[in-house]
Amino acid sequence: MRFPDGFLQEIKFRNDIEDIVSRYVPLKQNGSRLVACCPFHSEKTPSFTVYKDTKSYYCFGCGAGGDVIYFMMAIENIDYLTAVTKLADIAKIPIPEDDSEYRDKMIRQKRIIELNREAALYFHDNLISLKTDEGDKVREYLRKRGLKNATIKHFGLGYATSSWNSLTKYLSEKGYSKDEQRAAFLCGVTKKGDYTDYFRGRLMFPIIEPGGNVIAFGGRVIEGDGGGKKYLNSSDTPVFKKSRNLYALNFAKNSKRGYLIMCEGYMDVISMHQAGFTNTVATLGTAVTSEQARIISKYTNKVVLAYDSDDAGKKAMQKAHGLLSEAGIEVKVLSLDDAKDPDEFINKYGNKILENYLVKPKGYVETKLDGIYTKYDLDNPEDRIKALNESCEEISLINSEIEREVYGIKLAEKFKISSDNIIKEIKRQAAKRLKKEKSDFINGELRKISGYGDRINPDAVKSPAAVKIEEAILGLLMQYPEFYGDTKYILSEDMFITEFNKKIYTAFKNAVEDNSLINEANFDTALITKDFSPEETGRITKMIVANTANVVNIARAANSNNNVNINNIKNTLENLVESLKEQNKINGEKNINIKEIAAADDGFVKFIENKRLQEQLKKDIKR
Ligand code: CTP
Ligand code: MN
Repeated sequence: MRFPDGFLQEIKFRNDIEDIVSRYVPLKQNGSRLVACCPFHSEKTPSFTVYKDTKSYYCFGCGAGGDVIYFMMAIENIDYLTAVTKLADIAKIPIPEDDSEYRDKMIRQKRIIELNREAALYFHDNLISLKTDEGDKVREYLRKRGLKNATIKHFGLGYATSSWNSLTKYLSEKGYSKDEQRAAFLCGVTKKGDYTDYFRGRLMFPIIEPGGNVIAFGGRVIEGDGGGKKYLNSSDTPVFKKSRNLYALNFAKNSKRGYLIMCEGYMDVISMHQAGFTNTVATLGTAVTSEQARIISKYTNKVVLAYDSDDAGKKAMQKAHGLLSEAGIEVKVLSLDDAKDPDEFINKYGNKILENYLVKPKGYVETKLDGIYTKYDLDNPEDRIKALNESCEEISLINSEIEREVYGIKLAEKFKISSDNIIKEIKRQAAKRLKKEKSDFINGELRKISGYGDRINPDAVKSPAAVKIEEAILGLLMQYPEFYGDTKYILSEDMFITEFNKKIYTAFKNAVEDNSLINEANFDTALITKDFSPEETGRITKMIVANTANVVNIARAANSNNNVNINNIKNTLENLVESLKEQNKINGEKNINIKEIAAADDGFVKFIENKRLQEQLKKDIKR
């Protein structure tokens, strides 16, 4: 995809990063920096920083970073094209007509949405009017599970027949190509090259996004048929990303209850809605993702988890609790006593009883403590001690000290022990945990600096020293692209020893040398970051904002009027290139054995060549 000359720069120029970010998080001036508490991870002291001069943001806490386009993608959970379109809309810049690739993509997405709608109607029609044994069987199945006709219609449920290609045939007649059907994940190809329906002999659940479009399907085998997995789901398609969608959010978002109920399955959601709990959603066959947590936080700040009561459900609940709390959502838990899931509960006890349970769902911690109490025989002293210890540990996991104390007092009452001792014990465990978390964090940061275990730039471990120079060069060049002309004769791609940094340099070089740029100074990171993942873009931004800050300060200080001294930057760049050459020569002679380093327990610490940086980091973290 290639936008015409200057379009992306115009998007960035006309959408002031401060304005856009302020729409989502309140920015505070802190010295020369604009800061906020990061919207991408939970924190109490702001480490999310907006840089007006480089039109970028970077979070020193979680490493999220990028330009205004990337910010939009991340905060709204949308893809690159949608973010660009949205920003163009805000700034009232027309999307260029002649961008054929963009137009093609949009047309393709629209076609797939239409195709999905056709398929959903087709499946639904099968379910309602198929005059075969199959048709009778699926209708009987739904009746047995207690679904009313109105519910079936409301959710647009359908049936995919066991035929190999009835849907494919139908869609082809409607003018949709095989390629489009495959892209929508409705059709597959056999080894022989024949096209077949992907969903066969299944009850179909269309997945509808909040805007009302059918974006994907889930399909359940009809009992007795056995054969294959119980549920099949669409994979990600040009219009669907599993981790960014929730089943029935299109209905639940209109609920006036003020909170959302979250279940595990399609059938749970449908039963809940039928029973009047229209504020219920489900994840799509996966554990909750952080993206889903953020989407939920746009609609509500209260969630009741109604997960299956088996071990898998409990584990999933724990994960959901963590992610939702991080997104600032208050989490309660509905315990389903002797039903395996909400669907079964409603069918067993009815909606009135569920309503009673929902009036005062228990807090997450209470639920966990109840679980501990029932596990042990509290009349037996040994068990009692075990239960007490486990409870203290559970409470120590709470982040707020006040909450810890409240639960501590409750626990003391239950066990008839002095609350002072209990609170002391909880404090001790919490302190131990915090200390461990802190040291884990420091170690993690040290590893990052040493390039050890760096996921974004894995071969950084080859030579941390060289990598630091590479990053400084890239950061400076991207901020001051006008110096490309000076460095291009002394710097070449093969001087970059890490693939990641080499890729950045190549992308930068191509963008600058591209005829569409009138001169180097017109370079903009938007031209290259579209080829990188959000994490990678974060790293690129960090290079620009973190590595250049010092150089720029020096350059500024050297000038009485506080302007950046251009010659200083040029000199710095040339010196850096020289050091990189030097370093590469040393590395060539040294031939580092990576495996050995990784094996050594404290290898990574020894591996950090810059002692001062280590100390600084430790200080920073303590602050
Ligand atoms: N799931 C899936 N793939 C599977 C099994 C489950 O994607 N092979 C997802 C589905 O979204 C399903 C949810 O996990 O709805 C919960 O699974 P499960 O509890 O097994 O199913 P139920 O929703 O209870 O379905 P039913 O009541 O029809 O058995
Ligand atoms: Mn079930």
